[in-house]
Amino acid sequence: MGIVRNSEIGPVADHGGALDRAVQRFGPGPDWLDLSTGINPWPYPIPVLPAQAWHRLPEQSALAALRHAARDYYGAPAEAPIVAGPGSQALIQGLPRLIPPTRVAVLAPTYAEHARCWRLAGHAVSEVAAPGRAETILVVTHPNNPDGRRFAPDELLGLAETMAGRGGLLVIDEAFADMTPELSLAPKAGTPGLVMLRSFGKFFGLAGLRLGFAFGPAELIDQLEAALGPWAISGPAIEIGRMALADASWILATRARLARAAGDLAALLSAHGLAPVGGTDLYRLVRSDRAAALHEALGRQHILVRDFAARPDWLRFGLPPDAEAMARLDRALGDGRMKS
Ligand SMILES: Cc1ncc(COP(=O)(O)O)c(C=O)c1O
Repeated sequence: MGIVRNSEIGPVADHGGALDRAVQRFGPGPDWLDLSTGINPWPYPIPVLPAQAWHRLPEQSALAALRHAARDYYGAPAEAPIVAGPGSQALIQGLPRLIPPTRVAVLAPTYAEHARCWRLAGHAVSEVAAPGRAETILVVTHPNNPDGRRFAPDELLGLAETMAGRGGLLVIDEAFADMTPELSLAPKAGTPGLVMLRSFGKFFGLAGLRLGFAFGPAELIDQLEAALGPWAISGPAIEIGRMALADASWILATRARLARAAGDLAALLSAHGLAPVGGTDLYRLVRSDRAAALHEALGRQHILVRDFAARPDWLRFGLPPDAEAMARLDRALGDGRMKS
């Protein structure tokens, strides 16, 4: 998960969804199947929006309605301090700049942006396998990306208490918690020492809309809001977010659909000797000594999966969007050239 230099867009962290780079390497074609992200392939249907969502600057009352829908959906207390940002990434970037340089531990391996953004803001960052005694800030992605590592919520609450006792923070990134709401600490939002980040784009399949939320201590949430400035969330994102977060029947049906699809994907991978070692209902992680060769062979067939520079034996597979994509993946994995 190093830094890659792309002549068009400059230095960026290495992420899933980098289809442009795969096309540069393996060639263009209308047939690319991008399984490199953890985004729901069946997005929330975008409603026709009132013209004023596009035409006017967003009103405070619309933003308040979005925050209200988010507290409700995530199961947070009615008065829990919350800020909406243009993707949880914007909040991941903003938070480290509000805190004087200190010792930060990131439970790793995980989403590379956490360590990158704390470092960029001047903090001393270590990537650790377990919480330690020295850090003031501890960052945990829960459930984790890419391995799905998870903890009992009570254990995390205990950690938040410990961090608060040190005058620090536990930052929990719940970007992939929508499928397992019982794991979320949202009901405890507002607890001293606890910051929680939520991503709208993954479960709702609208990553391009750019919407995410942070819960945390009131003062910090106010500072994040101030740092984002006015109109950070577009009118269309406010309207679509508000409707989607309140659509209980779509949410329930989607959880069931993703669970079925992730089970089918796990069965397919297992049938090819790639039994998943972790994941969530939006992706499965496999470990294989031939991961690099598999990544290459799939790429040649225009199927992009996520590889990891720091873990060359890992591959992460997102959900194939339909039966044809499943059949293509099945054929590609069964291809004789892959069996080394
Ligand atoms: C664990 C995790 N957190 C946060 C994000 C940022 O997502 P977004 O900015 O779309 O909310 C990602 C994106 O891949 C992620 O994997």
